[in-house]
Amino acid sequence: MHSLSRRTLLKGSALLAAYGGGMGIASRFNRAEAAPAPVEMEARTTAAVLDGKNLTKNVYTYVLGGHDGPMPPVLRLRRGEPFAARLVNSLDDATTIHWHGLRIPNAMDGVPFLTQPYVYKGDRFDYAFTPPDAGTFWYHPHCSTLEQMGRGMTGLLIVEDSKDPLFDAELTLNLRDWRLGADGQFIEMFKPRDTARAGTFGTVRGANWSPEPRLDAPAGGLVRLRLANTDVTRLYNLKLDGAVAMVLALDGQPLATPRPLDMAVVAPGQRLDLAIVMPASEGLEAALMDSRPSTPKVVARFRSLGASLKRAAGDATPLQPNPFHEPDVAGAEHIPLVLSATAENAARDSVCGTLGYSFWAINKVVWPGDTPDPMAPLAELKLGRSYVFDLANTTPHAHPIHLHGMNFKVVSSSRRAVEPVISDTYLVLPDEKVQLAFVADNPGDWVLHCHIIEHQKTGMTSYIRVT
Ligand code: C2O
Ligand code: CU
Repeated sequence: MHSLSRRTLLKGSALLAAYGGGMGIASRFNRAEAAPAPVEMEARTTAAVLDGKNLTKNVYTYVLGGHDGPMPPVLRLRRGEPFAARLVNSLDDATTIHWHGLRIPNAMDGVPFLTQPYVYKGDRFDYAFTPPDAGTFWYHPHCSTLEQMGRGMTGLLIVEDSKDPLFDAELTLNLRDWRLGADGQFIEMFKPRDTARAGTFGTVRGANWSPEPRLDAPAGGLVRLRLANTDVTRLYNLKLDGAVAMVLALDGQPLATPRPLDMAVVAPGQRLDLAIVMPASEGLEAALMDSRPSTPKVVARFRSLGASLKRAAGDATPLQPNPFHEPDVAGAEHIPLVLSATAENAARDSVCGTLGYSFWAINKVVWPGDTPDPMAPLAELKLGRSYVFDLANTTPHAHPIHLHGMNFKVVSSSRRAVEPVISDTYLVLPDEKVQLAFVADNPGDWVLHCHIIEHQKTGMTSYIRVT
């Protein structure tokens, strides 16, 4: 077994810098200071070639630190170190930033009306928090979410840890499709009849704002791939052809023991961290494949460069676990959470947009999640107590259910053997009943919703109150 020496690490980082995986943002503030200078995150429009041919106008993105870096943006933080960001809104539309998967104070959660005022054009909002967990997370708006995410506003958020194992290189993949016409310009973001089913799919598939990116890494190297599904609709069944990979973490939470990647289902909102052993000869490629559609699709290619570093899968060591309050499942209070379709039409106008339809409900209540008149919370929880969501999907569609502010542990399922994974987003299968246990350890109003954004925005949203 080869251990990663300082020399090969440096080689890896040189490659990393050369391929634009840089660490620029984290170094923009002094880590020793309690209140770092905020990183400016400007929400604005840009133009980009997304389909490989045409320049698409009116793409929405975040520009970090005042200059155009590589798109899509990647933000790097350090576990336990204070971080600050100033959202500056240059869009014509109100917006907010939600930090998906971060367990931070409620006032920083980015949900308009519930946790903060929406930020209108020309306004700004200061976020400041200290990430308690290391891993792969992401951020996106929580106002006019379908339109804004559909046009590109998503970015990976990496929380590094000083105890992270060393890799020869690190790569990131932001998986998302686009709804573009033949001329490369945006078309309507959804079709109501699809919204009422699995959701409306993109017409142009992609990753890292490209139809099929090719990423370079050292031959025979052990490479960390951090990947997030930031698409508004699509579920991925990911496999790697041409190389061996170990799964290091799911949804930002490390596995106790890395295991070989066979096929990983990654739903909207979910993340996957892999250690890939690159092909040993220069020029050889491995391909990340999505095997879910009837015609499998190459998501990204990884090309080997240089002389082989001769790593093996066994060189992948486990990541440091994140802190987690173990719930007392036997003594927990149960909260029923029933996902259903609804015919009730309660679509209300809001500054954060409406799709104009109501198709979905949680416990028979329809709420799009970003209106000034939220209904009563689904449940009121006592700080420090254990709870179990008895989640029942009565629909024929899968729904990735995401909880803000806290992590849960999967306890049992009516449809499959479950692993006791810790997560913030669980893909509930059609007609599945599942139990998710957690300690209500973060005070505030926390939304939970389907991360198929059309489902979220047409009713499949609710919130819990922890006091
Ligand atoms: Cu990633 Cu409320 O969402
Ligand atoms: Cu859904």
